[in-house]
Amino acid sequence: MKNNLKIALLELRAKKKSTFAFNLQNFYQLEACAQVANKLKVPVIIQFSERFLRFLNDKYSLEYIIKKYKTDYTYFHLDHCIDLDFIKFCVDSGFDSVMYDGSAFAIDENIKNTLIIKEHAEKVGCLVEGELGKVSGVEDGFGEEGSSYAEIMEIIRYVKETKIDLMALGIGNAHGFYESLDGIDLSILKDASNQLEANQLFVLHGGTGLPENVIKEAISFGVVKINISTQLKKETMDILKQFANNNKLYNEISYHENMVEGLSKLFENYLHQYTL
Ligand code: 13P
Repeated sequence: MKNNLKIALLELRAKKKSTFAFNLQNFYQLEACAQVANKLKVPVIIQFSERFLRFLNDKYSLEYIIKKYKTDYTYFHLDHCIDLDFIKFCVDSGFDSVMYDGSAFAIDENIKNTLIIKEHAEKVGCLVEGELGKVSGVEDGFGEEGSSYAEIMEIIRYVKETKIDLMALGIGNAHGFYESLDGIDLSILKDASNQLEANQLFVLHGGTGLPENVIKEAISFGVVKINISTQLKKETMDILKQFANNNKLYNEISYHENMVEGLSKLFENYLHQYTL
């Protein structure tokens, strides 16, 4: 079944560009993200953590969120998840892609569960992202400290057996702000890119704080989806604090406009630099 996100990502791969998956957590971010994607006419991925999505779906309906913020350029994705039923729920709700993160499990278990999700997702043309090697740090309740590097033989076996659409690799990357970039090993991506099919799509987690040269090199090895969460959370808090400092009275409409405008700049900056 045709998946427009896959077409868009393959186009980016051919152009040696990447889009971003932003971990969104409120309606200001949703509005700004959808507006910017429409304005720039580039594919942008609206990504939810499992924890936030459960919260969101509890308070509002997921059907409403997708209907409201789905445009020709926005795509919906579930970030790290190991709950197979919840992943299937997202597939059935109309997500464009979902992540099954079996990186903490042995490879056989990871492949087995990935295949369960792949089979379910394929029926409706939903993409699946898998991970090998652990990204350090906690992303909205998921994960732990301590990373591990993806191993080339395992990468080749995993991709061959699962035919995974999007491959995330542990290359010393981390969620949150980096204390040091010494652990980043781009040779893992380079090897994987050389040994797998030429159009294999890769994902880079832990996008916050990575310098331009690292991001550009990663893109040259086939990364088409870069995840950004921490930088967006920080920017949201900075805009909030600045607004509170500059305004004696609270007015939701001007606060809303201020927030959407400020967040739009963040989205635009990333997309101008690496997607357009
Ligand atoms: P950062 O928090 O480092 O931006 O990473 C986000 C991420 O990889 C979500 O999966």
